[in-house]
Amino acid sequence: MLQDTWALKAQREGYRSRAVYKLEEILVKVKYNNQSCKVLDIGCAPGGWSDYLIKKYPKSSLYGIDLLDIKPVKGLKFFREDICNIDNISEINNKKGNFDLVISDLAPNLSGIRDVDESNVHELNLETLRVAKSYLNDSGTFIVKTFQNTLLKNFRTEMENYFSLVQTFKPAASKSKSGEIYLYGDK
Ligand SMILES: C[S@@+](CC[C@H](N)C(=O)[O-])C[C@H]1O[C@@H](n2cnc3c(N)ncnc32)[C@H](O)[C@@H]1O
Repeated sequence: MLQDTWALKAQREGYRSRAVYKLEEILVKVKYNNQSCKVLDIGCAPGGWSDYLIKKYPKSSLYGIDLLDIKPVKGLKFFREDICNIDNISEINNKKGNFDLVISDLAPNLSGIRDVDESNVHELNLETLRVAKSYLNDSGTFIVKTFQNTLLKNFRTEMENYFSLVQTFKPAASKSKSGEIYLYGDK
């Protein structure tokens, strides 16, 4: 499918972003099927992933965080905050160790300076992994966007040190020119 076709498909199917098809492909491939999952959606604006999950799993409960505001998504408790401050949000903090699924589509602003950008991506990835470790339950699943760069191997090793299964995905809806990839971790 042509890249723009994903955006048109999202529009036609009433989704907020083409990003939903990336998450959908990963969940289908890993045969994810928790009908009443508790989800933490990190970097959730404009709300595409949360909207998709609530439609797919109407019994799920969703918590989302982003620097940017979003139009309300029915069923999503949204907090406008930096991921680094998530522990200060009492409504989320008191659910530590209780989430079935932590998903992160975080994308830092790029400076164009390769070393700086790689290091920012890595720091953000490590922060989301820290959050996943403290908020997931004993059988939790983590899906995180990252980028192909010199620090990717380090990050994957960090994932492997914690999860019993780690897999890499490059969904069809992800632009082929972009270095974006997704790591999946299952406890
Ligand atoms: C690609 S978008 C997410 C798209 C979303 N998954 C969807 O389907 O609609 C990445 C988001 O990460 C957010 N973000 C970047 N850095 C962040 C941070 N430090 N804390 C919280 N959100 C952040 C951005 O504001 C942006 O909305």
